[in-house]
Amino acid sequence: MKENIHPIFDRLLQRSDREQRLGQQSRALWLTGLSGSGKSTIAQALERKLHNEGFFAQVLDGDNIRSGINNNLSFSPEDRRENIRRIAEISKLYVNTGIITINSFISPTIAIRQEAKNIIGAADFIEVYINTPLEVCEARDVKGLYKKARSGAIKGFTGIDAPYEEPVHPDIEVETDGQSIEESVNTIYQHIIKEITSSSN
Ligand code: ADX
Repeated sequence: MKENIHPIFDRLLQRSDREQRLGQQSRALWLTGLSGSGKSTIAQALERKLHNEGFFAQVLDGDNIRSGINNNLSFSPEDRRENIRRIAEISKLYVNTGIITINSFISPTIAIRQEAKNIIGAADFIEVYINTPLEVCEARDVKGLYKKARSGAIKGFTGIDAPYEEPVHPDIEVETDGQSIEESVNTIYQHIIKEITSSSN
């Protein structure tokens, strides 16, 4: 009987309802690159730019996530995989809430990034390769970790004695060497602006 049917879809808020409220299309930007390549700096500057342009964006960053929800994980291949799996699940929750996420993790292998893409969904996943040569990252050595890795004080450091596999066909590639942060951010912004802009705007 009709009066006993309560169509649940009228009550469930859809992702599109939230995107409409926020006036944007949500996506997960996935920044990959070596330690010291500039991922975090670019992620933060991009977050600020998106905010200033009226978008809702949230950075998820290696050092933050690893001191919180993932503080039980090491840098073994298995734990790096688990690190990325959890982050991808979190990112997906954000994207389904209508929010643009800027994920900033080494995510060192093609398989790890493919898993993140599978979790988030290919249509929402934008791979951004922060391409900075190892020599440049090592010369910068902002956190002093390359020095420790070279001396053997840290084992299994990405790019030194643990692998980093370059993306084969990234959606966006940024070569940071000789470029300002603003230029790198603008490259990414120009690539995504159409995709994240609400069709009703
Ligand atoms: S990932 O490989 O699991 O994706 P994630 O991005 O979360 O790495 O963390 C990377 C950060 O952890 C680096 O920027 C660095 O500060 C720190 N770190 C500590 N040990 C290592 C290591 N063995 N290899 C790479 N990064 C490390």
